[in-house]
Amino acid sequence: MDASTPDTDWTALLAAREGARPAGALAPLFAPILAPPAAADGCRVIGRLAQTLDGRIATASGSSQWIGGPGDILHTHRLRALCHAVVVGAGTVRHDDPRLTTREVPGPDPVRVVIDTDRHLSADFRIFRDGPPTLLACANDTPGPDTHGTAEVLRLPREATGGIAPVALLRALAARGLTRIFVEGGGLTVSRFLAAGCLDHLHVTVAPVLLGSGIPAFTLPEVARIADGLRFSWKVHEIPPDILLDIAVNRARPGGAP
Ligand SMILES: NC(=O)c1ccc[n+]([C@@H]2O[C@H](COP(=O)([O-])OP(=O)(O)OC[C@H]3O[C@@H](n4cnc5c(N)ncnc54)[C@H](OP(=O)(O)O)[C@@H]3O)[C@@H](O)[C@H]2O)c1
Repeated sequence: MDASTPDTDWTALLAAREGARPAGALAPLFAPILAPPAAADGCRVIGRLAQTLDGRIATASGSSQWIGGPGDILHTHRLRALCHAVVVGAGTVRHDDPRLTTREVPGPDPVRVVIDTDRHLSADFRIFRDGPPTLLACANDTPGPDTHGTAEVLRLPREATGGIAPVALLRALAARGLTRIFVEGGGLTVSRFLAAGCLDHLHVTVAPVLLGSGIPAFTLPEVARIADGLRFSWKVHEIPPDILLDIAVNRARPGGAP
């Protein structure tokens, strides 16, 4: 799979987004994402990260553009176009000021969702100024108006640990008809969805780059033994010069067989 994949394959996949049977060269990678949701929260959820060989998604100062090559950027925009909503954490907005649109491929823009529990982000970021519909997910005890720039504020219960439960966010999105959800980053956000049993798929791009320092891809509760780590099986796709690891996640046992 690379940027030279014929447009007919992408057109076939966009038709599958609306219910046609997935067909063409892109179907093996993307058809599982288009399958109907099976989880109780009503959503099918894919997490994605681009990391270095040593598992970093950005430098320590937060610079991450670009760890992956053009094939990874294309892949990310395809995932945006196939999903109803794209979710990012506050750290990603703070560092990248992203637009989260589908500029690289024909296809609809997803609804954009930013998780910012205590509303620390200013409304000056691009995502809150213009572009497709945007939701700011915050805790229901966080003060402030019902809009944040052009974004609508979505209030959700605060967990005992201080954050917002991914499952509560997924239920709120499903109630709005947003059931195919792309968790685009950063590492803390994807990790929280994984740890909460709220991911069905993981796509991890690994680039042949070593940083030796930086922001980690995954941060999960500490384990004492190698056997206690989450162990997956994966399919490997070449997106030169990178590889894309396609992992089906079992929500009940994230490190177990799907
Ligand atoms: N290489 C890649 O694929 C990739 C992708 C995206 C971003 N990035 C880079 O990654 C860095 C940011 O990643 P990061 O891991 O530091 O941060 P992040 O995941 O973008 O954001 C983390 C913050 O989001 C909020 N958050 C996320 N999930 C939450 C939940 N369930 N409940 C409550 N709050 C939640 C929290 O903010 P509060 O505590 O303030 O509420 C948390 O501190 C940036 O440098 C960016 O450039 C890389």
